[in-house]
Amino acid sequence: MQAGLAGYSDMAMRVVARRRGCPYAVTEALLDQVLMRGGRGREKGAILCPEDHPVAAQLMGSDPDQVAGAAKILLEAGFDVIDLNFACPVRKVMGRCRGGYLLSDPATAITMMRRVRDVVPGPLTVKLRRALNESAKASDAFNQVFDEACRLQFVAIAVHGRTVEQKYTGTADWNFLRALKQRTPASVTLFGSGDVFTAEDALRMYTSTGIDGVWIARGAIGNPWIFSEFAALLRGQPLPPPPSIHAQREALLEHFALAVEIYGEDLASRQMRKLGIKYSKLHPNGPEVWREFIAVKNQRDWNTVLQRHYHRDGPGIRVPSVPDAEDVCKDSCEPSTRNDSVPLPGAA
Ligand SMILES: Cc1cc2nc3c(=O)[nH]c(=O)nc-3n(C[C@H](O)[C@H](O)[C@H](O)COP(=O)(O)O)c2cc1C
Repeated sequence: MQAGLAGYSDMAMRVVARRRGCPYAVTEALLDQVLMRGGRGREKGAILCPEDHPVAAQLMGSDPDQVAGAAKILLEAGFDVIDLNFACPVRKVMGRCRGGYLLSDPATAITMMRRVRDVVPGPLTVKLRRALNESAKASDAFNQVFDEACRLQFVAIAVHGRTVEQKYTGTADWNFLRALKQRTPASVTLFGSGDVFTAEDALRMYTSTGIDGVWIARGAIGNPWIFSEFAALLRGQPLPPPPSIHAQREALLEHFALAVEIYGEDLASRQMRKLGIKYSKLHPNGPEVWREFIAVKNQRDWNTVLQRHYHRDGPGIRVPSVPDAEDVCKDSCEPSTRNDSVPLPGAA
């Protein structure tokens, strides 16, 4: 599945991924307060289209009743699944008792899950990290939240194998995922998250941990082909060749057009810079293409980059199994805490 990725996993990124084999996707974390106020966050972050199903809306908040109210709004907006975020490590989010903070306050996390369960008859899921930190108390809190989610018949639980305090440092603990799978009821789908940058990484996580599905995050940004590549590996087929230059051009054109539908040309052009530079990793002249995407100001500039670098077809190159320096350092998963929840470039 395609992960929740603040500032990236909007309807445009989800649809581009679906057209290339992604079976299921989730929004970025949406703030309960913004939804309850009916602000622009609702209009942009919660935008869907008929092609964008099945889709989960991820909610983040601190007040159980308010989160339950926002869940109802998202169901009415057409989302198939409600996902709760108890994982985000961003300081501002933690400071407001949201996201990963809830792994330090299992009583509130449990109340929130129950309130949401009361109002959502359909599928519910939750995103966790493996604990707040390495302490025994944090591990106990994780277990309480995890067990209650199972008891409340959440259909799926996604677990990032880092602690909240780890943010993006170190590595994700896949051994933790393996052990967790062994005690997860068969009725609950366990998604594993952390350090999946290529289809081969996804297969390694899947086979070495026994989890039911892979939550593909940074590895999907600018590489929507990761889903069909992973599917090929799962079928026992060889890894397909990297997408050709023309296949890349098609995805870039689609992604831009969908972003314009959501944000209008001006904002879409700014939004798409950070995506263009991710796509550029698959281009043989990556560094040059990167420099040109970063300077895009409007649709004409975007088309100029495509005309210059994607006009002639040829083989693409394979993404390496390492994170971008910018992704590692970033205090990620920052949904908007503004009224205007349109993610700004670099705001993730
Ligand atoms: C830029 C960025 C934004 C993210 N936003 C969200 C988010 O909105 N919701 C969420 O559940 N996780 C979010 N995450 C966490 C990812 O979904 C994922 O769990 C994490 O990056 C580990 O997977 P990876 O190492 O394969 O990238 C974000 C991560 C990044 C890098």
